[in-house]
Amino acid sequence: MTQTLTLLGIESSCDDTAAAVVRSGADGALILSSFVWGQTALHADFGGVVPEIAARAHAERVDLCVERALAEADLSLSDLDGIAVTAGPGLIGGVMSGVMCAKGLAAATGLPLIGVNHLAGHALTPRLTDNLAFPYLMLLVSGGHCQFLIVHGTDRFERIGGTIDDAPGEAFDKTAKLLALPQPGGPHVEREARAGDPRRFPMPRPLMDRPGCDMSFSGLKTALLRARDSVIAEKGGLTVADRADLCAAFQLAVCDILVGKSHRALDNYLALRPAVPAFAVAGGVAANGPVRAALSALCDEHQTRFTAPPLSLCTDNAAMIAYAGVERLLLGLVDDMRLAARPRWPLDPAAPALLGSGKKGAKA
Ligand code: KG4
Ligand code: ZN
Repeated sequence: MTQTLTLLGIESSCDDTAAAVVRSGADGALILSSFVWGQTALHADFGGVVPEIAARAHAERVDLCVERALAEADLSLSDLDGIAVTAGPGLIGGVMSGVMCAKGLAAATGLPLIGVNHLAGHALTPRLTDNLAFPYLMLLVSGGHCQFLIVHGTDRFERIGGTIDDAPGEAFDKTAKLLALPQPGGPHVEREARAGDPRRFPMPRPLMDRPGCDMSFSGLKTALLRARDSVIAEKGGLTVADRADLCAAFQLAVCDILVGKSHRALDNYLALRPAVPAFAVAGGVAANGPVRAALSALCDEHQTRFTAPPLSLCTDNAAMIAYAGVERLLLGLVDDMRLAARPRWPLDPAAPALLGSGKKGAKA
């Protein structure tokens, strides 16, 4: 990559409005600015993301985010080489807000318009942060995503498995809710689990006895609910130790499922004999210490490099969209004013549709 390119990225597919500027050149890519305006407070009273509220907030905020990203990068529109925008998958009203803003900017400036798949943004992030060479194995694991991908190229993703029901982050959040811990639940469950005995309450490991890399997490919350209720029925309530034990049992089950299925995914991937084997994990659940440690150990056993982007680049952001835009622009994959917002947009059209969609809406 010798040509220097500076791209604006826009992301508005869920509950974060974001804009960023990324410059890429001979020495790799640099994030010049990355601004994320979250909407957690707007949806807090509703127990989930309300699509209409999200769409309105994106429409109101997206141009302000672009202004802010350009100001932080100390650049103006005339310094850019292209406008990249998430064109799906996601909540359609939000995606449309971003796409309309990007089209307006592209029409006004004459710059190339590049529609980016949000999941491709996540999946290409290890190239932005660690310069990984194709093909690498990717586990996207968050509140809305859970899939194994072999990333063969900028526009070629092979999905070799995923959740058939809940995403793991969603399972962490539901566990937290059942145990009266704050949301988002992952970090709280992780903290409680540190003091717990993971063996006291048995938890299922669904689909582990079946071949393939598909996963299931919804049975865990039912098992947790039963275990919790049996303790309450016996003692009239939960002690701090009971809660810690429940969290530890749940977290160990998630780790075991992710590691067991990652092992199979690695076997599939390593059969391709990649020159520099690499496994990247991304998404909010990648912040979980025991999950990271277990996946990292698995990679050590298989002489495979393990990488996890920093959390700010694991969660939704526009730098990943700008970077994916750079890769697409270099390949001449440019869109025009017919670019449409897509609520569904599987990364691997050849893979069968997954049943699960995650709490933030269908993603694959
Ligand atoms: O990637 P993300 O910010 O948003 C999407 O879902 O797209 O992921 C958020 C999810 C939440 O479900 C949250 O509970 C989970 O990631 N999470 C964690 C941890 N930190 C965040 N789960 C387990 N352990 C953590 N430390
Ligand atoms: Zn995302």
